[in-house]
Amino acid sequence: MKSMNLKTLVACSMLVLFGLALMSYVAPQKWVAPAKYKTMKNPVKSDATSLASGKELWNKNCASCHGKAGLGDGPKARTLETNPGNFSKDLTAQADGDLFYKTKTGKGEMPKYEGKLSDDEVWHLVNFMRTFKK
Ligand code: HEC
Repeated sequence: MKSMNLKTLVACSMLVLFGLALMSYVAPQKWVAPAKYKTMKNPVKSDATSLASGKELWNKNCASCHGKAGLGDGPKARTLETNPGNFSKDLTAQADGDLFYKTKTGKGEMPKYEGKLSDDEVWHLVNFMRTFKK
């Protein structure tokens, strides 16, 4: 009887551990922009002027969390519950429209910039974020 209880205990702990592992795997839901943004054309050419504006806007609004080079190591990042990600890797599979949408709408700890930045400013930021790509 005693060994039976031990087995049950072990089995239960395994189940709990498995459940926790599954939750941490599933919980950070992937952030996906609506389909219409994926195909949205970036109307702002990524030239020197746009990149200079993008950089200035980035350092002013985004670097505090995302870091100057988009590595997710800004001074504020430590205080966040959500990892802002490493943009030198994370953005490769995303369309310009995805980044445009996410910057405008925000999610959780990522602030919403709709109404704070103009569409053109957001596109400058998108162009600048592209320079993080490795
Ligand atoms: C207060 C901290 C903070 C600031 C400031 C901030 N972000 Fe974020 N950002 C985050 C966090 C946290 C996430 C991850 C959100 C999630 O997945 O739940 C994120 C996610 C993103 C994503 C989505 C990345 C992906 O892989 O899907 C983009 C794009 C983005 N931020 C752009 C910006 C831009 C551009 C600015 C400045 C205009 C900015 N962020 C300012 C915290 C911040």
